[in-house]
Amino acid sequence: MNFLHTEIGSARDNQRSPIHNWYKFTAGFSYKFVEEIIKLEGLKDFDNAEIFDPFAGCGTTLVSSQKEGVKAVGNESQAFMFDVIKAKLNWTIKRDRVNKYLITIENYINKNLFDVESSANPLLKSLYDFEKLEQLYLIRNSAEVIRSQKYRLFFKLALSQTLHKVAIHPIAVPYISRKKILSNNNSVWDVFSSICKKMAEDTESLDNLIYSKIYKQDSRKANRFIKNNRCNTCITSPPYLNNLDYGEVSKVHTHFFDITSSWNDITNKIRKKLVTGATTHYNKSDFNKKKFLESDFAIDNMEIVTGLIETSVNIKNKAIDKGGKKSFDLLLLFYFRDMYLVLKEIRRVLMQAGKAYLILGDSAPYGVYVPTTKILGEIAMNIGFESFEIHKIRTRGTKWKTLKHRHSIELNENVLILK
Ligand SMILES: C[S@@+](CC[C@H](N)C(=O)[O-])C[C@H]1O[C@@H](n2cnc3c(N)ncnc32)[C@H](O)[C@@H]1O
Repeated sequence: MNFLHTEIGSARDNQRSPIHNWYKFTAGFSYKFVEEIIKLEGLKDFDNAEIFDPFAGCGTTLVSSQKEGVKAVGNESQAFMFDVIKAKLNWTIKRDRVNKYLITIENYINKNLFDVESSANPLLKSLYDFEKLEQLYLIRNSAEVIRSQKYRLFFKLALSQTLHKVAIHPIAVPYISRKKILSNNNSVWDVFSSICKKMAEDTESLDNLIYSKIYKQDSRKANRFIKNNRCNTCITSPPYLNNLDYGEVSKVHTHFFDITSSWNDITNKIRKKLVTGATTHYNKSDFNKKKFLESDFAIDNMEIVTGLIETSVNIKNKAIDKGGKKSFDLLLLFYFRDMYLVLKEIRRVLMQAGKAYLILGDSAPYGVYVPTTKILGEIAMNIGFESFEIHKIRTRGTKWKTLKHRHSIELNENVLILK
């Protein structure tokens, strides 16, 4: 495991790698992590090797596997990210067809109008010059009616990337950063068409065989399209406890593509399908202690749950002391219950001799240290895994040290290996 350098859990490497750099996703990990595990496990030498990623994100595991010629299958529950991944896995795109579609789209935007004032989403209006926003919506409307799904998703992905490049402020770092101003003098059309051309060029040098498949699926439930014991390796990075609200991170895009239009929409259409990783995912009234204690999670993990409830009380007391309003005490319980369900799904999909590699972060809500990686390893043992190992990648969270209410506990990012 000597490839576990401090950047392996970050998406930095991906910015320099074709296909991986088709969509800027701050929560991704390095494609090199996947390549190294494929080597370590000798997956290219197996006839029936298949990798599973229950949290496909922007598709790093699936794209890397496809590049290496190893089969892979994944779940992603966000509709928008699902489309991003689908587009990133399609390498049968032809440059001349892309050019023809570009002419059609350009003609459409030259001949049509979009009334930004009355029809654009208010969030979008606050992030783009109106003239640019009109162009973005016109490209969207024109590309949306392309009949071929693979070209439609190709242009949708190029437009998604354009949204990042022509905004007034950076829109997902991981959240909108209104204090920073982006300098972007290029026209929307120039940015969009050059992204499309670069993407089409990227696919030309690649093998056009498809080895990876993505499902729009909540990994807390069994995916009926993936049979028991089908895969030999799982490579993934789950949401970290109290780190990112993935519904919030992609809201500019989901609002733009009319998947959502408000906070409530994000909660009902997106957050509800995700592992509970942030306090914005639930209402305090959703928690029912009796039901929680009667759940399979509590029954299968009695000792762990007793410890979690003690930690939860501890967090609640710290919140009262600090006058904090966030219900991290409940988040903790929801998070481990959800992750137990996903670990069960990983166990179901893996073969007997299978192994899972998970990149995870520890956390410390209200300054109460939660050894997330170790707790998940212990839950996995109760589910039927045989052993677990933890390998530290780096110390994390140090950039927040200057925040007034920030705790000073050192947190780790780790790889959890389940056998
Ligand atoms: C940390 S990101 C994964 C990043 C990914 N490893 C990459 O490099 O692209 C977690 C992803 O899991 C997705 N997710 C969260 N809960 C999920 C669930 N219950 N089922 C499926 N996907 C989920 C989120 O939408 C997000 O895209």
